[in-house]
Amino acid sequence: MKSVQWHDTHITILNQQALPHKTEYLELKNIKDVWDAIVTLKVRGAPAIGMTAAYGLALAAQSYETDDLATFHAQLKHDRDYLASSRPTAVNLFWALDRLVKSVANATSVNEAKTTLIHEAICIQIEDEDVCRRIGEHALSLFQDGDRIMTICNAGAIATARYGTALAPFHLAKEKGITLHAYACETRPVLQGARLTAWELSEAGVDVTLITDNMAAQTMKAKHISAVIVGADRIAANGDTANKIGTFGLAILAKAFNIPFYVAAPLSTIDLQTKTGDDIPIEERAKEEVTHIGGVRIAPDVNVYNPAFDVTPHELITGIITEKGIIFGDYETKLPTLFEEVLA
Ligand code: MRU
Repeated sequence: MKSVQWHDTHITILNQQALPHKTEYLELKNIKDVWDAIVTLKVRGAPAIGMTAAYGLALAAQSYETDDLATFHAQLKHDRDYLASSRPTAVNLFWALDRLVKSVANATSVNEAKTTLIHEAICIQIEDEDVCRRIGEHALSLFQDGDRIMTICNAGAIATARYGTALAPFHLAKEKGITLHAYACETRPVLQGARLTAWELSEAGVDVTLITDNMAAQTMKAKHISAVIVGADRIAANGDTANKIGTFGLAILAKAFNIPFYVAAPLSTIDLQTKTGDDIPIEERAKEEVTHIGGVRIAPDVNVYNPAFDVTPHELITGIITEKGIIFGDYETKLPTLFEEVLA
C-alpha cells in the first residue's frame, strides 16, 4: 500500500483522513491539490509530506509554457515557496523541495529540467524505502522478542515510502518471526495513533494495543513497557527533537520509569541549520481539531491552544536511530558525522 505514487499526469495519495473507515486513493492533478492535501493531512508524516511535495513540484513544472531557463527557474522558485508554505515543522518538506530545485540548477534546457525533476522526485521515494528498512534493522537490534514498546502518532509505512521509521522495527520483526507488542497512544487531537497506527499494525499482523494518551503512565507501569520509540519531524543540531504533540510528555514519563526513549528518523529529518529545539517552528492548527472529534462537537466554543508538535529536549533522548546507525547522546558532536560520507 503506497502512501504516494507518481503517474505522468497526476499523483495518487492514500487518503489518510478517510482511514480506517475507508481505503481510498485521491488523484492530485495540480499544485493546489497537492498543497491542499498536505495542509488537510490527507497525506502526512514528515517523509510522505516531502515525497508528495517533490512530486507536486515536478508535476507543476511540467505545465510551464516557456523555453527560457531563467523564466523556468523563476516559476519553479515561486511554486517551491508555495508548497513550502503548506506546513512549517517537518523539515523533510523543505529538504525535498530544495533537493528538487538544486537538481536542475545546471540544466541546459527546459525539457531536460522537466525530466530531471520527475527523476529526482522518484529517487527520493525509492531511497526512502531503503532508508526506512535500514532504520528498522538498527532499531530492531535494540529490542528483544516479547518486548512491549510504546509509540505515538503514526511514523509508519503510510508516513513514508515503506516500513516507516518508528514502526519499521515492528514490520521487520513480523517479517523475521520476532514478536514485538506495540502500545499505540491514540494521539489527540486528530488521532493518528488510533486511526492510522492501530490500523496499519493490525493490518500487518503486528500485535497492537491502543490506549488513550492519558493512559501512558499507567500503561508503562502496569504493562512493563520496555521502550518508547517515536518518529521525528525535525531534529535540531543539538538533538532536540520536534515530533507529534504528546511526545515530550512520553519522554518525561520514560525518564521517570527509567525506560529508554528512542527517536527514529532519516537523515533528511536532521536539520543542522537549526541549532536547538527553541528554533524549530511549531505549527498551530485550527481550534476545531480540539473542539470536535470526527466532525462532532465535544466542547463549547472556548479558546483553544492547538500546537501540532512539541520538542523533546535532547537530554531525554536515549538514542537517535538513523539509516546510518544509532547514536547515543552527545548529539551536537555526533549528528554532523552522520553527514560526512554524504558530503564527501
Ligand atoms: O501532523 P502529522 O501527522 O504529519 O505528524 C506526524 C508526526 O509527528 C510523525 O511522528 C513524524 O512526521 C514522523 S513520520 C515517519
